[in-house]
Amino acid sequence: MVIGISRGAFWFRLVRVRMSDKIKLAPSILSADFSRLGEQVAEATRAGADYLHVDVMDRQFVPRINIGDGVVKAIRPHTTLPLDVHLMVNSPERQIESFAQAGADIITVHVEACLHLHRVVTQIKGLNLRAGVALNPATSLDTIREILPLVDLVLVMTVNPGFGGQTFIPQMVDKIARLRQLLDEGGLEAELEVDGGINAELAPKVVHAGARVLVAGAAVFNNKESISRTIERIREGLP
Ligand code: DX5
Ligand code: ZN
Repeated sequence: MVIGISRGAFWFRLVRVRMSDKIKLAPSILSADFSRLGEQVAEATRAGADYLHVDVMDRQFVPRINIGDGVVKAIRPHTTLPLDVHLMVNSPERQIESFAQAGADIITVHVEACLHLHRVVTQIKGLNLRAGVALNPATSLDTIREILPLVDLVLVMTVNPGFGGQTFIPQMVDKIARLRQLLDEGGLEAELEVDGGINAELAPKVVHAGARVLVAGAAVFNNKESISRTIERIREGLP
């Protein structure tokens, strides 16, 4: 039983998951082998991923620096999947145009990094891209109540951003359930995406709580098993 929601709502959601669209998987390239990124992107595409999650870090908003829009441009020809760009950067409004031109389909910004979130979301949608808003583990859902009707995706961080391969924060299950309730009660269509420490074991739990898009980095890109086998294993455990 997920904390914070009634047993009835829990089973209703479980039934609804069976009838709703399939759960989407978004491998995060943060953990990919960058010496053969095109190959890995193509492999994840063939393996049945739904989005490709592209983490961008500026060593200001998060402790690490990694890639820019040039990598999005480089991988664009290697996949037909929507590129789900997660900007872990300060003042993301300065990056949106270049990532849009590079081929991003979804651009997600952190509520903690935006002084004028409504303006940033409007900027993304004005470029005919889908707009996402991300919340760090300690950030309250109250911070996005007003913007919820405008966004296409809400990203619940289930680790503190900045690194791949971290351990899932269990308290986030209740936060996912409360966000699912907010979206359902408001009749809102925004996708609920979870990001950080997700693997085949945790996937059913976050889906039962209400997640519909699962980001997975280290669980997918590793040298223990093939990308397709990992994606298959994650899907096997889902309703
Ligand atoms: C962390 C990133 C996540 C991360 C997920 O800051 O936002 O997308 O790459 O990777 P895993 O699944 O390895 O935690
Ligand atoms: Zn991410």
